[in-house]
Amino acid sequence: MALGFDVITIFPQIIHAYLKLSILKKATEGNLIDVKVYNLRDYTTDKHRMVDDYPYGGGPGMVMKVEPFYNAYNSLVSDGVDRFVVLLTPQGKTFNQEMALEFRERNERIVLLCGRYEGIDERVKELIVDEEVSIGDYVLTGGELPALVIIDTVSRLMPDVLGDNESSVDETFSMGLLEYPQYTRPPEFMGLKVPDVLLSGNHNLIRQWRMKEAVRRTLKRRPDLLYKKTNN
Ligand code: ADE
Repeated sequence: MALGFDVITIFPQIIHAYLKLSILKKATEGNLIDVKVYNLRDYTTDKHRMVDDYPYGGGPGMVMKVEPFYNAYNSLVSDGVDRFVVLLTPQGKTFNQEMALEFRERNERIVLLCGRYEGIDERVKELIVDEEVSIGDYVLTGGELPALVIIDTVSRLMPDVLGDNESSVDETFSMGLLEYPQYTRPPEFMGLKVPDVLLSGNHNLIRQWRMKEAVRRTLKRRPDLLYKKTNN
């Protein structure tokens, strides 16, 4: 089954622009992934197509209204297809490779709700959201980049999205380790040599060297990953 995403946003062009120009273009054209983008303003009912309003109780900034999200959601699910609804927000559970694998395994389309402005009416979460997801502890101007981060990360885990020569099996995080150092030609540049073992042709030794370097690098840069691995 193709991986399906429904993105709801007030900036559809941001999503289209990235999908058109990235490795995901081929994946969408080849029907390996299916991304549909919906303009939140199309689900407003007032003549100004308002998607935000002043916060009850006062305070700075605007709050995204509940009705457009609710209407958009209802319009989507009217086709009877199962969906898992994700709200992109810095308050959510932090996205990581493990969550990407979980999303890939879902037999549901994934709806990505992109918030903007200072916030979103709490009732959106109560009514339609299954999971709130953050892509990290920093605040962006909206959920469009996080939505693309998720689409990109999950899509490249699908068979055939990456080319023949690329693989998502052997890389950083797939084994809970950072990736080993990589080299290509020339064998020496500015006095810096490629480690002899990689030129040896001995695949056993190469595998051992890579594993050792991956562990060494992880220990130095991200010991938390090793700790997590030994506790699983
Ligand atoms: N919207 C704004 N910042 C965000 C973040 N870090 N993750 C997800 N959505 C966001």
